[in-house]
Amino acid sequence: QSTTELDVSKIAPGQAIKSSFRKQPLFVRNLTPAEIAEANAVPLSELRDPQTLAERTKAGKENWLITLGVCTHLGCVPLGAGEGENKGPFGGYFCPCHGSAYDTAARIRQGPAPTNLQVPEYAFTNDTTVLVG
Ligand code: FES
Repeated sequence: QSTTELDVSKIAPGQAIKSSFRKQPLFVRNLTPAEIAEANAVPLSELRDPQTLAERTKAGKENWLITLGVCTHLGCVPLGAGEGENKGPFGGYFCPCHGSAYDTAARIRQGPAPTNLQVPEYAFTNDTTVLVG
């Protein structure tokens, strides 16, 4: 079982980066207050895989959205974690392979993917360091 240590101090609000975890792409996103509000405004009844943003983040750190960058349809790497990439119609991530669109909590909102982007096991070891795995 290998772990990955990430320094998130350089990720500005509204920015997301691609890293990797156990040879899979990993997305780390610093949500803006508007993106948090957008996620929290969605009724769970509208979701294919119902989960709140709070369930997908750590208490007191709801702005840090950490997920695998692996589309849950057939495993392509969604866009939206790089500078200027297409975040799709729900403002999170967009999978160009077959058009799955994820929202600002990386929850599936449109297209063939059955479930939300997976949140790995992780913990903050201090304010700016995350240990994934
Ligand atoms: Fe992402 Fe098919 S692999 S939509």
